[in-house]
Amino acid sequence: MRVFKGEVTALPPDKSISHRAALIGALSEGTTEIMNFSAGFDNQSTLSVLKSAGITLRQEEVDGAYGRRIRRVVIESAGLWSFQPPPAPLMCNNSGSTMRMFAGILAAQPFASELIGDSSLMKRPMKRVADPLRQMGACVELSPSGTAPICIKGDKELKAINYRLPVPSAQVKSLVAFAALHADGESRIFEPVRSRDHTEVMLGLESFEQDGERVIVVPGRKGVAAKPFYIPADPSAACFIVALGLLAHGSEIMIRDVCLNPTRAAFLDILIEAGGALTIENQRVIGGETIGDILVQNHSSLEPLVISDHQAVAFIIDEIPMLAVLSAFATGRFELHNAAELRTKESDRIDALVVNLQRLGFDCEQYPDGFVVKGRRITPSGTVVIDSFDDHRIAMSFAIAGKATGCPIDISDIDVVGVSFPNFFDLLDSLQV
Ligand code: S3P
Repeated sequence: MRVFKGEVTALPPDKSISHRAALIGALSEGTTEIMNFSAGFDNQSTLSVLKSAGITLRQEEVDGAYGRRIRRVVIESAGLWSFQPPPAPLMCNNSGSTMRMFAGILAAQPFASELIGDSSLMKRPMKRVADPLRQMGACVELSPSGTAPICIKGDKELKAINYRLPVPSAQVKSLVAFAALHADGESRIFEPVRSRDHTEVMLGLESFEQDGERVIVVPGRKGVAAKPFYIPADPSAACFIVALGLLAHGSEIMIRDVCLNPTRAAFLDILIEAGGALTIENQRVIGGETIGDILVQNHSSLEPLVISDHQAVAFIIDEIPMLAVLSAFATGRFELHNAAELRTKESDRIDALVVNLQRLGFDCEQYPDGFVVKGRRITPSGTVVIDSFDDHRIAMSFAIAGKATGCPIDISDIDVVGVSFPNFFDLLDSLQV
């Protein structure tokens, strides 16, 4: 039996906030200092495209809390129109956030640019990017299948927009907000289903509820003043450690300084509701984001998770793979509806979860917007080969199940964890008693 105990102080800095801090730094007038920037490949892709588009930035290691070395990024910019024509297509690698959010900025620059990615990113939907930017006056071309390459002829005279998000997507909301900062008046973004709100928090945008929707107000051409950012630990990475602690008998793990923004931490409420022994401690607010420590103990048994609420799905979209695998292993059951968006991520995550859970002996059925795990038919005797589908969250979800339960599994392309969690296996080893 494997037991995991200890304190986690080296969780990756939040991926979503790291992307935004770098992009907002590039849009700001002055010097932006970002403390605890993520070393994950996706966030490094954002720095790399910014550099290729003429932004001056440097990255160095400095002393941080708990005796750790952390990354400090310094960005110098003259504001909204400081970008230069890139000499070659901008390679976003696996990072959808880099491609989509940077497209919003490039749409407002008076030059042509092209965004490309790895084979997974080149398959992901980009019409949701092109539609609002075209309405604002930019020329945006996609491939016939509505995917990248995204070819942009930017327009310095972008028009303000009132835009209702057709899918709950914080990436699309953010790209519209970044473009709207350059527009000729006030823009409004309407969210029928809310998504993570880091962009609004970090830019200090006004937002309010109206007729059951969230409305975000973006002033045009007012400029953004540089300010420092501190990146808290990533709740989506914490979810893997939480699942490990809940699954592995006798475990007790304290996870420090995690971002507990309510638009990100809903997975904790869902797990507490299902009986998970989780305690949130030491809550405080830094830079507009709530931060705290999570104590996870393997004390109680979990109820099967059934997730169908649209808002819940939007708030836990990145945690669903881990929650599904956790629920399947802990209870034999799991049920998900209204989550078709999951098919548009780094892999088709509904299919990836079902294929791999079936290999592990679970009885599953998938449908367009979700899937159900009905029980476990057999417990395979030998090593099970899991296909990561080159998706970091699929790889880590099954790796946690293997570590926690001792079930022998072999995961393809395991290096993909570096997209968001480069120290994943070192951290697990450090917790194993
Ligand atoms: C993200 C938003 C979500 C999420 C992704 C990060 C962000 O994507 O899945 O990992 O930082 O805005 P969508 O905007 O496509 O929902």
